[in-house]
Amino acid sequence: METEIRDILGQLKNMIEANRDMGLEPPPIPKGALHELNAEAPESPVKPGRPDHPDSLEALRAHIGDCRRCKLHKARKNLVFGEGSPQARLVFVGEGPGRDEDRVGRPFVGVAGELLTDIIEKGMRLTRAEVYICNIVKCHPPENRDPERDEIEACLPFLKRQISIIQPEVICTLGRIASQELLEKSIKITQDRGQWHSFMGIPVMPTYHPAYIKRSKARERELKGHVWEDIKKIMKRLGLEVKKR
Ligand code: URA
Repeated sequence: METEIRDILGQLKNMIEANRDMGLEPPPIPKGALHELNAEAPESPVKPGRPDHPDSLEALRAHIGDCRRCKLHKARKNLVFGEGSPQARLVFVGEGPGRDEDRVGRPFVGVAGELLTDIIEKGMRLTRAEVYICNIVKCHPPENRDPERDEIEACLPFLKRQISIIQPEVICTLGRIASQELLEKSIKITQDRGQWHSFMGIPVMPTYHPAYIKRSKARERELKGHVWEDIKKIMKRLGLEVKKR
């Protein structure tokens, strides 16, 4: 119970911070917290129906607009907001759009995306439309470099808001950067993958980034095996049947 209360308080804190970063106060209280605290959610200060109402992904997308909050806007072709079901039970979080994603405006559509799609469709027997796929930063870092601190800080509140709108049952972070930025702690992917972590009270499973697997030709089979172990843990948590492959 103590851990649950700590998780709920952590969840509230993250939401308050994410909303404040976007100029929205007070935050809506998450369903789980309402249940635990047996309290009423305060009214949002923004009237429902207005494009900046915070309670839908569409409104959040409208609020972000033609974003120029960090320098990544200068070279991007498209802002990659994320896609999938607003009721997704599982959210995948990557690092940032690559060149293909920048061109198309959708997450994980290049080579790494093909592998992620296989994991979802062939491994989990779900569709991309049933899960939600997004990134730590929404604009392509030039030359595929890591996103920088100021870029992450400008963008992360929107990812947090997406997660608090969707309220998934599980989050799967792809790679070290996505994992450590979401979990706000230093991550060694070889050690921390396959273990449950927590963000806003939601269980988080870090695993290898599909692009890393694709780059590590000699270890591709081994790394895919590790990812499958991690995915099986997620499926178990979601009550999905794990079929023999
Ligand atoms: N790599 C990522 O981290 N995200 C994408 O959307 C594509 C490749």
